[in-house]
Amino acid sequence: MRTTVSVIKADVGSVAGHHRPHQEMLNYAARKLREAEETGLLGSGYVTHCGDDIILVMTHNKGENNPEIHGLAWSIFKEVTEKVSRKLKLYGAGQDLLSDAFSGNVRGLGPGVAELEFNERGSDPIVVFAADKTEPGAWNIPLYRIFASPDNTAGLVIDPKLHDGFKFEVLDLIESQVVTLKTPEEMYDLIGLIGTPGRYAISKIYRAVDDEPAAAASTTRLSLIAGRYVGKDDPVLVIRCQAGFPAVGEVLSAFAVPPLVSGWMRGSHRGPLMPVSFRKGQNVVSFFDGPPRVMAMGWQVSNGRLVGVEGIEPADLFEDPFWEYARQKAAELAVYLRTMGEFEPARLSHEEMEYTTLPQILEKLKPRFRPVEEKQVTEK
Ligand code: F6R
Ligand code: MG
Ligand code: MG
Repeated sequence: MRTTVSVIKADVGSVAGHHRPHQEMLNYAARKLREAEETGLLGSGYVTHCGDDIILVMTHNKGENNPEIHGLAWSIFKEVTEKVSRKLKLYGAGQDLLSDAFSGNVRGLGPGVAELEFNERGSDPIVVFAADKTEPGAWNIPLYRIFASPDNTAGLVIDPKLHDGFKFEVLDLIESQVVTLKTPEEMYDLIGLIGTPGRYAISKIYRAVDDEPAAAASTTRLSLIAGRYVGKDDPVLVIRCQAGFPAVGEVLSAFAVPPLVSGWMRGSHRGPLMPVSFRKGQNVVSFFDGPPRVMAMGWQVSNGRLVGVEGIEPADLFEDPFWEYARQKAAELAVYLRTMGEFEPARLSHEEMEYTTLPQILEKLKPRFRPVEEKQVTEK
């Protein structure tokens, strides 16, 4: 049976600044998803949030980039904006809906999309990650660790099905081009690209031995669509696990030492990616609008539906007390980085600030710059 998992997300307004969506927004989206289950369009539909972003997790049999599925997500975000966000004057109402030109696909219009279509195996565990206050390239280090580094994923060494490695589709977000690189053979080339996460982001991963899809990430760069800063992209990611894919524990272990990612306050800073429990309500930002955070939802994909720990409720994979260690580490790094204020590398580099409001501030200094006078060198 072929099943598609579509994760589509957008920030269409929030309470208390960029903190979290209003519960009415989530209730509205949940009702719409339930209706789509009843008409048979969806096998399952689940709505949640990561910080101020609404995340729709849907299963169906229509394949990737399907106009009906994208249309459903688009209409949910539009209606939530009109009927709840604007009515309640929520902050940033409709923020990520950058264009009204919907014609069958939400890509390029603002919402983030990660989709994976596959033949269901005997049993198919997936993990869906959602992050807030960061960009698509934030997945580069975790995905490299999970699918290319034997120091993280024992299966790359031990399991014959993983031993042949993986193929990484890497997007050049500036030039809108894509390249496929195969690990372990091309690992150094891969690192050469994805070490620049503001420009190169991993969009898809396939298992090399049989081209089975293994992972899909959202790669929207809102600022590149809008030409100005309109909030961070806050990416999502779907990973298939176990029995020939990395184990859930290998996938999660890539987040134990928080990587520094771009985003955080005003999308202009580097901060640690903190793994959080959504059941404990940790999936909201506070300190300096952060630090950036990631939550992990575990499901079985079974006969076209999502099976969680109770009904559709997903396993909360960063709830284990072990993750207090990573959270503590991230908090320490966050406080440390803030001691640097607005100096690089705590603040993003000049090129990366192009789409923020800093250029407007610096513009007024332009007329005050004068040529450097050449000093006369006098010989003795
Ligand atoms: C980051 C983010 C926030 C805002 C900040 C200022 O992605 O959304 O950090 O950039 O709170 O927001 P405004 O300019 O809306 O007051
Ligand atoms: Mg927001
Ligand atoms: Mg957000």
